[in-house]
Amino acid sequence: MILAIESSCDETGVAVYDGERGYLAHKLYSQTLHSQFGGIVPELASRDHLRKLLPMLQALLAEEQLSLAQIQAIAYTAGPGLIGALLVGATFSHSLALSLGDLPLIPVHHLEGHFMAAWLTVPQQQMSFPWLGLLVSGGNSLLVESDRFGAYQVLGTTLDDAVGEAFDKVAKMMDFAYPGGVALAQLADDYANGCDSHDPSVPRIQLPIPMAHKPDLNFSFSGLKTKAGLVIRQLQAQQRWDQPHQQALAYAFQEAATESIVLKVHKALQAKKYTKLVVAGGVSANRCLRQKLQHLANRLGIELLLAKIALCTDNAAMIAAAGWEHWRRGETIQPGSILAGSRWSLGSGLAGLQAAVARQSH
Ligand code: KG4
Repeated sequence: MILAIESSCDETGVAVYDGERGYLAHKLYSQTLHSQFGGIVPELASRDHLRKLLPMLQALLAEEQLSLAQIQAIAYTAGPGLIGALLVGATFSHSLALSLGDLPLIPVHHLEGHFMAAWLTVPQQQMSFPWLGLLVSGGNSLLVESDRFGAYQVLGTTLDDAVGEAFDKVAKMMDFAYPGGVALAQLADDYANGCDSHDPSVPRIQLPIPMAHKPDLNFSFSGLKTKAGLVIRQLQAQQRWDQPHQQALAYAFQEAATESIVLKVHKALQAKKYTKLVVAGGVSANRCLRQKLQHLANRLGIELLLAKIALCTDNAAMIAAAGWEHWRRGETIQPGSILAGSRWSLGSGLAGLQAAVARQSH
């Protein structure tokens, strides 16, 4: 049985996982103390992880009637992320491993973990390759190809803001507390459900679809965010920034952002035959995006793996699942030499993590 720890940003997670028996239990705590600052304060995030990790682990073991003696290895998020927050989880994991008699450790790449959240929906996590991965979160908008476990080729990335970041920034302009992406999506969905397309009194706003005519697989959401801000300011100046217009703006933003993602996914699926489309990250909880991707997958006859809503955002269950795969392959390290790299690049393996650690200490 593997214990997993997640602490890369503002979510504290602990999980236990036994892939052979198909057993998984996890606990998640989302830090709320950052909302008053309008963004994540790294030092506060680290301190909150430190406060929460041990009590959460104790509660998980007690609830699941498990003991530390049953743990055979400890997986932890070693990067990328906030270095202070990562170091709290890494130090916690290494200390625990030492105290339990030198248990092996598994440093897990956070983004690989996100993809594993989608594979958790497949019995026994039986992976087939090559697959196309879409990761959409507050820090990343990525299209990757994987032809074996641990190998990832980046096909496209964002040139500026990540899509979740753009959701949160537009939400902030609309005075939602950080992170406002979920509230913005809710407002957009309210508009879509209540919208009678023939009613002339319902306001309509249209925003351009980013990167629609670019041949590559990259994303860009900063221009869309700026355009949304301009529309907000115009409506405010005209004293028309009322609830119907706020809903229409949220809907227009969500439509343009999700359409841009789906266009790029479609392009990638046309370029090569993949066995599956694997989708993860906080923004993959977005109802509109999930529907559009399902529609595309049905149309192209490709299987879509979507992480369960509860496992779209950061959590330790996904780290446990990735840790399990590495452990099965004997990819572990010994406790003591604490590895955490804030800029560990996806697919570069342990050598890449060591290089990231060396870079950050210069
Ligand atoms: O994966 P995640 O927990 O953290 C990062 O590693 O970034 O994703 C958090 C992001 C935030 O930007 C949040 O606003 C966004 O995911 N998000 C959503 C939705 N749920 C979470 N964005 C749009 N629609 C949603 N339903």
